[in-house]
Amino acid sequence: MELPPFKTKMVEPLTMRTRKEREGLIKKAGYNLFFINSADVMIDFLTDSGTGAMSENQWAALMQGDESYAGSSSFIRFKKAVQKVLGFPFVIPTHQGRGAESVFNTVLLNDGDSVTGNSPFDTTRAHIENRGSKIIDVTSGEAFSKKSLHGFKGNVNLKKLERVLIKNKTIRYVLLTITCNSVGGQPVSLENIRGVAKIAKKCSVPLFYDIARFAENSFFIKEREKRYRNWPISKIVLETMRHADGVLMSAKKDAIANMGGFIAMRDPLLYKKLAPQAILHEGFLNYGGMSGRDMETVAKGLYEGIEESYLRHRIEQARYLGESLHKAGVPVLRPIGGHAVYVNASEFLPHISWDRFPAHALAISLYIEGGIRGVEIGSLMEGRNPETGENRKARFELLRLAIPRRVYSREHFDYTIDVFKKIVKDKGRIKGMKFNYESPILRHFSSTFKLLS
Ligand SMILES: Cc1ncc(COP(=O)(O)O)c(C=O)c1O
Repeated sequence: MELPPFKTKMVEPLTMRTRKEREGLIKKAGYNLFFINSADVMIDFLTDSGTGAMSENQWAALMQGDESYAGSSSFIRFKKAVQKVLGFPFVIPTHQGRGAESVFNTVLLNDGDSVTGNSPFDTTRAHIENRGSKIIDVTSGEAFSKKSLHGFKGNVNLKKLERVLIKNKTIRYVLLTITCNSVGGQPVSLENIRGVAKIAKKCSVPLFYDIARFAENSFFIKEREKRYRNWPISKIVLETMRHADGVLMSAKKDAIANMGGFIAMRDPLLYKKLAPQAILHEGFLNYGGMSGRDMETVAKGLYEGIEESYLRHRIEQARYLGESLHKAGVPVLRPIGGHAVYVNASEFLPHISWDRFPAHALAISLYIEGGIRGVEIGSLMEGRNPETGENRKARFELLRLAIPRRVYSREHFDYTIDVFKKIVKDKGRIKGMKFNYESPILRHFSSTFKLLS
């Protein structure tokens, strides 16, 4: 067991609801866990985004927040941290990751363009499609193999990437998501990153990363790629970034901040192109939708997020939960990813067809049984094909249990494992779901449902 490299200084009480109360609450929420108040959740694995516990140093830094509109010293510290940790000279702050996606894609993409890379996250996909562009997925086949225990399931299939880039002249950039959330928080190896960069360069297509979880990715590189075993995480991070033209960041993940994001890049011309769009939608270039206080927490969090002892403990937490569920007969994606455990709901509940959303049905059961909140990552989140309007069948029907940073302890995980053990015994009673109201965009957030009888 990894000793947590921190101790608790402040506590947040949990409200204990009964099973009966939860049955009523979820019904009232239209069987959508996004409509449940957090006070009615005992263990919240909905997301690891913005939900981390800040350190005493981050809280102290808040007091230095400079809320000046222009020339804020908080921005100067923020920019310096991005430059030092990631190595990119130009930085545009945004209110969160999707702010960066919006600014970036509005400038880079037009109707009929394409983007290729390893399975982008849902908001990224939505922003790309919102520009009338499409995504050509070149994630390696390992990512979709239930049996494979490959250490870098987020990798790109390099042959496929090269074919796609040679054949398709509408591709405006290659996007590498590290770690790859959509296939289970799986890492990308440095060897693969180098291969991607080489091909992108050969085909004269720029390479960008979505680095929401770059520190976790670097930890996996250290753990699994022999060559980097003795490298400090900070050096692996810089080596990773060296191959990219720029990055999009949601600072709510590996910068352990509650809010924030940015675009960082090498090319001053790209900076000039992005800047007006950023000002229009995010705010002036010295704050981009964040308060000075937010920027201070990101500046500190970028350094804390790459501390090896913190990363080892964090990755170990996910592994403990995932491997314990596996032993209890709950099918999970393995190896366990960095920030979350993904339950394979179609395998766990084979009696529920994909268009009855088995992972969502399991999420509802988990809430009713134990007050634990996870999220569906499957055909519900995948949405409809924008061209045909048909439901898209996702590759996997997953229930994601995302682990907030520095928040939960071993007892919370043991409780979760016990609740799953109860569900395993009675899983045949879980029924599928259908829409009561279907939201037209990012439908998992705001649709309501009915339980099928
Ligand atoms: C890989 C990845 N990219 C982008 C985003 C979007 O970031 P944000 O939630 O800050 O808008 C997320 C959010 O979960 C993510 O996981």
